[in-house]
Amino acid sequence: MKFLNIPKTLRFATATGAYQVEGAWNVSDKGVSMWDNVIHSKPENVVDRTTADVACDSYHQYKRDVEMLVELGVEYYRFSIAWSRLLPTGFSNIISEDGSNYYNNLINELIKNNIKPMVTLHHWDLPYVFEKMGGWTNEAVIDYFEEYARVVFELYGDRVKEWITFNEPQVLCLFDVFAVDSGFASETLVSGVSDYLCLHHSIKAHARVYHLYNNTFKPTQKGKLGTAPYTVWGESVSDSEEDIANAEKLMQFFVGWYTHPIYSDEGDYPPIVRKVIDENSARQGFKVSRLPRFTPEEVKYIRGTFDFMGFNFYTAVVPNTDRLDPKKAPSFENDLGFSMLQKDEWELSLITWLRVYPQGFRKITNWMVKQYGNHEIYILENGFATKRGLNDDNRIKYYTEYLTSLLEAIDDGCNITLYTAWTLMDNFEWTLGYLNPMGFYEVDFDSPNKTRVPRKSAKFYRQLIETRKLKVAD
Ligand code: GAL
Repeated sequence: MKFLNIPKTLRFATATGAYQVEGAWNVSDKGVSMWDNVIHSKPENVVDRTTADVACDSYHQYKRDVEMLVELGVEYYRFSIAWSRLLPTGFSNIISEDGSNYYNNLINELIKNNIKPMVTLHHWDLPYVFEKMGGWTNEAVIDYFEEYARVVFELYGDRVKEWITFNEPQVLCLFDVFAVDSGFASETLVSGVSDYLCLHHSIKAHARVYHLYNNTFKPTQKGKLGTAPYTVWGESVSDSEEDIANAEKLMQFFVGWYTHPIYSDEGDYPPIVRKVIDENSARQGFKVSRLPRFTPEEVKYIRGTFDFMGFNFYTAVVPNTDRLDPKKAPSFENDLGFSMLQKDEWELSLITWLRVYPQGFRKITNWMVKQYGNHEIYILENGFATKRGLNDDNRIKYYTEYLTSLLEAIDDGCNITLYTAWTLMDNFEWTLGYLNPMGFYEVDFDSPNKTRVPRKSAKFYRQLIETRKLKVAD
């Protein structure tokens, strides 16, 4: 055994998302989110036909959650606010007293225990009222998101100093492309059209909220704001020029699509994404490209709207060698031009899309730095699904290998200052229900208090944070 030193500059966190843990879906005056709606109207969309109506019941058990965070020794807790709990109608003219108290209590409990809150404004649970209006394909939602954010900053900005606007908006906008999760909550998906509109508006909404915070709240509240893009490592199947180019194209379609307008110096969509979708649209007989355009003013307004370069990272994919016909029906996949697969030799977790590819961490981080510059980097999610049970050695192995790769990226000169493990405790994994536990703590979903028990990996994380050393094989 040998030990790798963890630099002092790297801080540790763990995370959850409101819909996945809170439960209390209709307690008090809480409004309905798009997830509440889909889970009740189409129960068959969830593989085990469960719901998040109660989930981990963090709405009532939040003090236990904080106790666990203390046990782990993390410096930060990343959680999200359920927009429909704080603003039951979705609109900012009515603020729920119980909703606002809940987040107040959670934040105060964290601070009392020396844990810094890191708050995500939007972790996929859009109020259903907006879904009925077309979700993020409707530009008007941007204004309502800004008003929601204003309420949040006013209520909690005195104590919350780290903000994240969107969690993985690419996934939110693409849902059915991630075929394993077909039946995600959006009712408005028209692939190759609405996904581009949805992300376009999410990017504008992110920038709007950045400027709101920057101009109105940051001068006194002095926090930082960023976003949590989905990332994946696109590995080339061979050394051929074409395969390497396709892997890069995949990165630009899945990652750059959201990050380029925000993180790059030049702003706007990645040139290859622009070109391919413009060309395919023309070939298909569209008079106007299916990929919306930012005006030059918008490009300037959007680029640079981050105080840290955040991203989530779990796994890798390779571009398949098939070639999809660009004249076929519009779709994100046809624009990408090939299907994707994962190599059999990469160890599989319990989640079909989550195969182990630790070296991808170093690669994706260096890729981000090369694309966008050596900014301060926050890793906002990374984790693994195992069977139920407390002896989760394969989770420890996953974290050890990924963190080794992350330390290599730091050695390369990448300025990573925050690492967030997904997740604090087992929770509702969207359309995969409760079949894929990912937590440091196992949750007994049949017990009245949703009893949480630490797994072996909880001890691993605590020791890592305490000793600032990562134990690795020779
Ligand atoms: C992310 C998502 C989380 C969680 C995680 C594990 O994409 O942000 O909410 O579900 O995947 O699958």
